[in-house]
Amino acid sequence: MEISIQPDAAAAAEFVARLIQQEVQSRPRLVLGLATGRTMEPVYAQLIRMHRSEGLDFSACRTFNLDEYVGLPGTDPNSYRHYMEAHLFQAVNINPANTRVPDGTAENLASECADYEDRIQAVGGIDFQLLGIGLSGHIGFNEPSSPFASRTRVVTLAPATREQNSPLFRDPGQMPRQAITMGMGTILESRQCVLLATGGDKAAILAAAVEGPLNTMVPASVLQLHPNCVIVVDEAAARGLNRPGPAPRVRRKDQFADSLVKSGIASTTST
Ligand code: GLP
Repeated sequence: MEISIQPDAAAAAEFVARLIQQEVQSRPRLVLGLATGRTMEPVYAQLIRMHRSEGLDFSACRTFNLDEYVGLPGTDPNSYRHYMEAHLFQAVNINPANTRVPDGTAENLASECADYEDRIQAVGGIDFQLLGIGLSGHIGFNEPSSPFASRTRVVTLAPATREQNSPLFRDPGQMPRQAITMGMGTILESRQCVLLATGGDKAAILAAAVEGPLNTMVPASVLQLHPNCVIVVDEAAARGLNRPGPAPRVRRKDQFADSLVKSGIASTTST
């Protein structure tokens, strides 16, 4: 894992947006895995700004969101489809047909999950996966004890997640108890992933994920197995880390390695 510590949440979000910008510019047909949550809002705001003022072009991008609540239609303000439309899709030139969010209202949820996996495979897999982290340690909605090899499926949300997300619902009691999420195995197959965490309330779980043992009770720790993962944090979220360390060297020579060096995450590349 490469770790980039930024001075504050705004800088961390801009940093992640720049990484996405570089990927979109160098690979217009990028397959982008997207995340929701409060942490991502400033990232999407930056992408919209880059679209408007720097001509960032999403017209050929394909996107797959990590997760969706079971039972909420895309028109529900608490659904993740609605979040994506409001925070990104409607403000940039992405083709709506190229945006995928699991359908939490599908009659047959098991086949919706299998189809979601098939659609990801059909476009050749996810090139760049954006991730947040929940206070339960979840990535997507992979809650503690999710198998590392899990695929897209229906899950029951952990109490910590219900506590974290229910205030976003007008009536907190209306928060669904289940969700569809991409699996940990699905996420691990992405070619590169970037996890963004900001704020002091994430410090303890982030440290457990990054420096603790590989543990299904801390689902984000599975990212230690990802060959190409960058953790971007602000100073508050980095507080629990013991070993932020010097800028790591990147040994691979490819476009992502180049963007890590350009962005200052890594110090040098060599073949
Ligand atoms: C949500 C999403 C996750 C997200 C996380 C963090 O429940 N399912 O994909 O990473 O919680 O949310 P926030 O950014 O609001 O802390």
